[in-house]
Amino acid sequence: MKILAIHGSPRSIRSTTRKLAGFALEGAAESGAETEMIDLADYHVTPCTACEVCSLNGICVNDDDVPSLLIRMQEADGIIFGSPVYIDNITGQMKVFFDRLADAIHYQVLAGKFGCSVATTYESGGDDVVAYLNHVLNYLGVISVGGISVATGGKMETVDATEPAAKALGKKLAGAVMNGFSDPAQEAILADNRAYFQTIVKENRDFRPEAYERWVRMGWIK
Ligand SMILES: Cc1cc2nc3c(=O)[nH]c(=O)nc-3n(C[C@H](O)[C@H](O)[C@H](O)COP(=O)(O)O)c2cc1C
Repeated sequence: MKILAIHGSPRSIRSTTRKLAGFALEGAAESGAETEMIDLADYHVTPCTACEVCSLNGICVNDDDVPSLLIRMQEADGIIFGSPVYIDNITGQMKVFFDRLADAIHYQVLAGKFGCSVATTYESGGDDVVAYLNHVLNYLGVISVGGISVATGGKMETVDATEPAAKALGKKLAGAVMNGFSDPAQEAILADNRAYFQTIVKENRDFRPEAYERWVRMGWIK
């Protein structure tokens, strides 16, 4: 079992959000998971230019780190997203990365995995960012087991009080991977998303027959 955390703080290893995500990874590790932390800011992620080439062949025209990051997500059983709150939202680094996952969202290449989200903030917006990160997990076909946000007031050590809860979240994620986790509300959202994205998969059937066949096999083409 492999659990991967990706956080979008530009502060990289000095990030408070990274520390919080790290607690969740520690909890997953205590449940037997192999864990990995990705400091997104250390990678080369080019912004999407809406050229739409990826929709034809699944391959981005940009030669950067996103394809290898996506492979690492595909190889993981559980995915933790983390971001600090920047102007009541995720960081630009995280958003640029998410925009590059549009094709992965349309084709639901991460479907069947579980995830959770963490955020830190000086004061406000943490819960909204966790909700957004979990929303993106759902877009990717990933069921979230929950999330945690911490308002630090600017003191990194504030997150230490949340270590037990973050570890419990990581354990819950590992438990979902090992034993399954059902959430009818999220499953309904995922089904709605697939009903919507099937139009794209059908439209591109001639360009991407293998992807189309996978959707037929999964019963997602109606
Ligand atoms: C550009 C920028 C925007 C921020 N916007 C907010 C905000 O809207 N609300 C808030 O409470 N804190 C805000 N903060 C504070 C960060 O969310 C907070 O310090 C966070 O814990 C930093 O996490 P990190 O160490 O992982 O980067 C902002 C910080 C920066 C640098």
